[in-house]
Amino acid sequence: MALYPPIEESADEVRAVLAPLRNSISVALFAHENAFSVGGIIRVAHSFLVREIIIIGTEPYYPKASMGMHRFESIRVFRDDEQFFEQVRGRLVWAVEKERATRSVFDPRPFPTDVVFLFGSERGGLPSAVLDRSDEVIGLPMYGVNNSFPVSVAVGMVLSEWGRRHYGAGLAV
Ligand SMILES: C[S@@+](CC[C@H](N)C(=O)[O-])C[C@H]1O[C@@H](n2cnc3c(N)ncnc32)[C@H](O)[C@@H]1O
Repeated sequence: MALYPPIEESADEVRAVLAPLRNSISVALFAHENAFSVGGIIRVAHSFLVREIIIIGTEPYYPKASMGMHRFESIRVFRDDEQFFEQVRGRLVWAVEKERATRSVFDPRPFPTDVVFLFGSERGGLPSAVLDRSDEVIGLPMYGVNNSFPVSVAVGMVLSEWGRRHYGAGLAV
């Protein structure tokens, strides 16, 4: 049965309705370099009801580009990767970066339940030091002429694959 969140109500009320439906995964963005892209990522992450969206770095971002979805999400900002790793200690961090990937996102081995998917910046990707500290590095196969996807697309692909594994045929609430 479809659930209709009371989106006309206050953000707090909507958050309360969504709280028990949330998944244990988080999305983290390292030095994003694209204020509008972050809004799109918040919107995508909201679709999957992630636990939180983590922004690493102090670059400004434009939450309204999420089409208002930022009001229903937990967005945490950490000043740098040191603070990030400190705050997520005890959780698995899966970096998403093609160059250093050791497994494909489509590898049939299961995804962990509680994982932070970490994405790199639009220009520089993830630095080696951050990849070294991550528990896994996964890649998205590319077809065509470019070397990488826009980070917002990469987030959508990873969350979509996570959702396929977790919910099978699909589920919208
Ligand atoms: C536009 S990419 C830029 C960095 C990339 N290393 C480059 O030099 O082209 C931005 C981010 O999107 C994600 N990404 C884009 N395409 C990817 C792919 N094919 N596999 C894994 N991650 C990808 C990664 O998190 C990456 O850090």
